[in-house]
This record gives sequence, C-alpha cells and structure tokens, in this order.
Amino acid sequence: MSEFAAVDVIRAKRDGHTLSDAQIDWVVDAYTRGAVADEQMSALAMAILLRGMTPAEIARWTAAMIASGERLDLSSVTRPTADKHSTGGVGDKITLPLTPLVAACGAAVPQLSGRGLGHTGGTLDKLESIAGWRASISNDEFKRQLQDVGAVICAAGDGLAPADRKLYALRDVTGTVEAIPLIASSIMSKKIAEGTGALVLDVKVGSGAFMKDLATARELASTMVRLGKDSGVNTIALLTNMSTPLGLAVGNANEVAESVEVLAGGGPSDVVELTLALAREMLAAAGIDADPAKVLESGAAMDTWRAMIRAQGGDPDAPLPVARETEVLRAESDGIVTSLDAYGIGVAAWRLGAGRARKEDPVSFGAGVQLKVKPGDAVRAGDVLLELRADDPARIPAARATAAEAVLIGAERPTSTNLVLDRIA
Ligand code: URA
Repeated sequence: MSEFAAVDVIRAKRDGHTLSDAQIDWVVDAYTRGAVADEQMSALAMAILLRGMTPAEIARWTAAMIASGERLDLSSVTRPTADKHSTGGVGDKITLPLTPLVAACGAAVPQLSGRGLGHTGGTLDKLESIAGWRASISNDEFKRQLQDVGAVICAAGDGLAPADRKLYALRDVTGTVEAIPLIASSIMSKKIAEGTGALVLDVKVGSGAFMKDLATARELASTMVRLGKDSGVNTIALLTNMSTPLGLAVGNANEVAESVEVLAGGGPSDVVELTLALAREMLAAAGIDADPAKVLESGAAMDTWRAMIRAQGGDPDAPLPVARETEVLRAESDGIVTSLDAYGIGVAAWRLGAGRARKEDPVSFGAGVQLKVKPGDAVRAGDVLLELRADDPARIPAARATAAEAVLIGAERPTSTNLVLDRIA
C-alpha cells in the first residue's frame, strides 16, 4: 500500500480537493494501526465535515472501513437475510418486536446492535434488563441461532469494522459526528460487513433525532441507500417522524414491557404501525411474500421472541426490574396536549438514569419516563401526564424540570403528522 504523509491528506481535504483511492485506503488503515495520530484524524474528520466528500470518496472510505476488519459470511444460513438499522430516537424499541416478527415471517434477521449514549437509548441496554440475557455471543453461536431461531439481537464483535469503532469515539469528542459522509460510512460499513442480503434503514427526523430536518435526513438516507446497493445489499430507507417519542415507554425495562405488549397483539398504535411498516419493507426487500399483520396476530412472533431470548440465556418470564422511586407530573391546566417533545423526554429519561453520560457508565434498568398522554389528548388540571421513575431519588428534580418543559398544553388540537414521512429506494 502507498505511503502518504497524513498532513498532506489533511491539507488536500482542507483545500477542497478530492482524495484519491490510495490516500483513503492508506489513511483509514494507518489510523486503525495507530500510525496516524488521533489529532491528525480529528483534523481530517473536521475537514471532511466542512468540505464534504464525493460519492466515490464515500464509497471508498466505506470499503476501507469494511476492510479494516472481518466480513461475516452468512452463506450457511438457508433463509433470506434482512436487517434494519435505525439512526436512533426516543422510545425507539422497534427492533425488539420487529426482529422476531420478521423471523416468524420466514426471514433470518441478524441484528447487530449498540448501547445508548446521550438522550437516545440502546437496544442492548433494553434487552439486558431481562434476567440472564447475554449481549455477547461468538460468531458461531450467532450463525447457529440465525439458522435455528431466525432472529438474533446481539453486540457487534470487536472484529467488525474496527476502524469505525476508533473513529466514532474520536468524532464523539471532536464535534465531527454530524458529517454526513462519516455517518453514512460508519453505519453502512458495519451493516455491509455483517453480511445481510437486505437492509431497511429507519432514518429518524425531528427534535429527538440526529437529523433535525427532512432535507438533511433525505441526503443521509440517499447516501446510505446508494452505498448499500453498490455493495450488493438490497437497501431502502424510510424517513420517520421523531418529533415525539414512539409509544408510551422511554427507558429500558419499560420499553421491553411495551414491546412484549405489541407481540401479544396490543401496544401503542404508533409502535405497531412502524413495526408493521418496517416489517413489510424488510420482507419485500428479502423477496418474502408474507403478511406481518397476520403473523403478529397469530402469536408466532411472540413464540420467536421467547425462543430468541432463551437462546441467549434470558428468561422471558422473569419479572422486569422496577425503579425504587416513582413520581408523577400533573397537568397544571385543562386543555389539549399540543406538543410532547422527543428530545426533552429523552433527556429526562437519561437524567433519571436510563441512559449514560460516558460509554463506561452503567444504566439503571428500571429508570425512565412512562407517558400517560400523547399529543392531541385532552387533559384536565391535575391529570397525570407522565411518571418519572428512578432508583436514585436525587435524579428526579432535574428530570422533572426537563419533562415539564417538554409537554405543552394549549387550546388547539395539533395537526397530526404522518409517522412515515418519505421512502427512498
Ligand atoms: N451511528 C453510527 O453507527 N455511526 C454514526 O456515525 C452515527 C450513528
């Protein structure tokens, strides 16, 4: 591989030039090996954020990140594979009911998931509230479970796109997370290396999401769809509303409980709607002709959920952790809930202990916010708007203040917005 001076690569991007394939291959590899220093990669990431990248540069950068580690071979799995990735939101527990549902419809769903950081929760944190459940499994266990049960949600192993792990941690502390070429290559390098045949991206838009506006979300979605298709992964994206939390539960154990309600045929209508919309897309992308609504109703998805949890040591019947303290927030006046801001509720749940400030922090499984109302609901003064749950009562006052600011009560019914805002294929 050619040798370059890191400073020349940084200068080239700083001055708005296109990086060559050789420069990209070298800088990603040298950074992963430790031959390019963190301060040099920080400068390059900032130059990329400010100057952008061409589609060809993004594709090469993604390929270099994939090449930094192993690529899983799922050819031993006999069913078509389909995965989903969400860019992260508040109350976004959709992976939990969706994975067993799509598996029960005939696909194999390899869900390599992450932990939460900041105001959005992590799928692994939620599942770890189930007694005995293990997030880490070997590649062999992963493939066996995928074949036998059809559904696996687990932690991505250290061997998958190690360049991304190092670069993402650096971007987190250098104000460069928001660069679309870097977000797209980060997400897609992991998904392509995981070996799925079909991929549905749930790109969230709104206050509780990474992407606050539709135009930026569309740009990210199109970049990722193109990267996936160019690598032979049948990829489509849905742009979905994240201005208000999904469902009523925001936390860990309470989100598992809500997911189980959906699998049992109940649950909040928005969670059911999005689960079915994503399931239909995953099945179509994998070439499977099945009706997920009928399969959900049949109870087959619940059976797959139980098998999936058991396969990783979890007890699906064990009681879920309950927070030591619960306080309620009440309406101060009569009216209609005009807004329930996703970001504010996400921060309140994080303050209660459901999320972490640093990646090594533990989370509190019982902590979180349990909503009692949704936008458009009529309330009377004194009605309970939400519950604040925490193990440590000292966390409640700050969370209460944040949650109180997130709920607006007014006179006019808010105009309803669609959950699915756009589709990019
Ligand atoms: N999620 C990722 O995996 N990478 C990013 O860059 C942003 C969100």
